[in-house]
Parts: sequence; structure tokens; C-alpha cells
Amino acid sequence: MNNFPHVRLRRLRQNETIRSLVRETHLRVDQLIYPMFIAEGVQEPQEIASMPGIMQWPLDQVTGEARRIADLGIPAILLFGIPNEKDAVGSQAYAEHGVIQEAIRRLKAEIPELLIITDVCLCEYTDHGHCGVIHNGTVQNDESLNLLAQMALSHVEAGADIVAPSDMMDGRVGVLRHTLDEHGFNQTPIMAYSVKYASGFYGPFREAAGSAPQFGDRRAYQMDPANVREALRELEQDINEGADMVMVKPALSYLDVIRQVRDHCDLPVVAYNVSGEYSMVKAAAQNGWIDEQRIVMELLTSIRRAGADMIITYFAPDVAHWLRS
Ligand code: PBG
Repeated sequence: MNNFPHVRLRRLRQNETIRSLVRETHLRVDQLIYPMFIAEGVQEPQEIASMPGIMQWPLDQVTGEARRIADLGIPAILLFGIPNEKDAVGSQAYAEHGVIQEAIRRLKAEIPELLIITDVCLCEYTDHGHCGVIHNGTVQNDESLNLLAQMALSHVEAGADIVAPSDMMDGRVGVLRHTLDEHGFNQTPIMAYSVKYASGFYGPFREAAGSAPQFGDRRAYQMDPANVREALRELEQDINEGADMVMVKPALSYLDVIRQVRDHCDLPVVAYNVSGEYSMVKAAAQNGWIDEQRIVMELLTSIRRAGADMIITYFAPDVAHWLRS
């Protein structure tokens, strides 16, 4: 049935005032989380070659940068640590005076209102670069759980507000919840990387975090990009184990997954706009091939439209500036 010329959809598009009145999806600064890399071994901020504008920060300068982020109205940062010493069991991941534990203490002392979320995963801390301990060439699930729980606990004891397990071991959310509760931290939320795919889009991050696996790949624990029913099983499992928020990662090639996760549960949904997604936009923008601001706003709006409540993005400070002007 064709109602034209009676019905004309362009009526509601004729100027920005009307368009903004009927706009369905909004991107706000208080929905953004900014990832930060803190490196024990650096004296000055080191720019990551494949991620223009993103630095590895020395401990001494973390609070200065975080202050800038908080002043932009960004409510939360997600911390990744790069230790000097790596070993087979990732000891620095749960060391009382590890790089992240120290960073958390400084941040909480100086900027208590900024939410500190910590990535809980061993890959930046193991010499083999895998997310758990290895025996006979394979990543051991159950033996890794205890180390991950110790890691999460050490972050929370240092003052972290939220822990975000990204290792993709089975059962980790439950073990983290149990460990935190046992130690009096039943109010600390778990933001679970519930649906994390084995993705080529993490390439630049692995340069940033020095966490590329030294043999093999992560396909035996991260998910197959072809699967979405399995994503819903991961989701269900994490909810049953006590996750407070659930994440889909990466974001842009997985908008359909974000939508399904949104429709299947009532938990807050987080999407991680990952390093490779950032680098591709930056590279095209630096070549003058695209309008960076316009493309970034369109991409992040599409992630929100797909159903994400929050977005972890390296673009957060830029977006905060753009939303102000
Ligand atoms: C740690 C972790 C990774 C990312 C976040 N946490 C890398 C990986 O799983 O290999 C990727 C983030 C990004 O690409 O921006 N396991």
C-alpha cells in the first residue's frame, strides 16, 4: 500500500530542531569508558605506533592524565598494566605492589570520583602471552581460575571499583564473585567480558600491551566469530555466575550480537570498541580519506543503536570534546 503523497517521511527531517526532537538514539559522555595503559618500564609517555594519540603511561603521570579524563566528564577508566617482569604464572598480575595495584592507589587518592575498572587477565603478565597457565601446550582452565581470582582481589584491595575479567576461562565470574564476597567485597560489581571473540581487531592492543601469544592463538578460549547462539550460552552462564554487567567485544563487526544480547537479558550491556577499530579510523583520517569526527560519531551511535548502554572506546576524550562544542 503506497500512501504517497499523503505520507511524506521527509517532513520530520527538514531541520535540525525537528530531527533532534525525533532522534531515537543518543550518545552521551557519561556512557563512555576510556582504556588506559600503564607501563612500569617507561619514564615518559610512549605513543603506541599503531594507535595514534594513545600512550603507555608511566606510573608518575597516570593521575595527571586521569585528571584530564575526569575533567572532560568521562566517568570511568579501564586499566591495563604492563609489568617489567613476566613469568609463566603472571606473578606480577596479583603482586601487592604491581604496576596496576600502585596505579589504583594513586588514582583513588587523587581522583576518588573517577571510577576505576580493571582488566582481569593474565596475558600481559605471562611470558608466553596466554590468558592462563600452560601445561602440555594448552591453557589450563581450572588452574588459571585461582590466579585470576587473586588478581581481581588484589585490584579491589588496592581500591578498584569494578573488575572486568577478559580471560574467557569457564567459571571465572563465579570464582571471582565467591572470592570477592569471602573477603568482604560483596558490593564490588563484575563487568564480565561475556562474549569475547577471537578477533584480528585486537592486533594494535597487543602491541600496546605487549601481550601477543608467543605460540598458537587464543581460539581455544575466545569465541569463534561465526557463532551467535554460543554467545547467548556464554551470556547465560555469566549471568548465572553473578555478572553485574555483560560485554560484547569487539563491537563493530558484532552489532548483531550486541542486539541479541540486549534482547536476551536485562543486565547493562557494554560494548568494547577495540584497538583495531580505532586504528582503522585513525589511519583513514590521517590520510584525509574520511571525516574523523563524523565517522566516529556515526560508529559509536551505531553501537548504541545496536543496544549497548556503555561503550569502552579509545575515542572517549575526542568524543567528550565534540559533544561539548
Ligand atoms: C586481554 C585483553 C585484550 C583486549 C582487552 N583485554 C587482548 C586479547 O584478548 O588478546 C583487547 C582490547 C583492544 O583490542 O582494544 N585479554
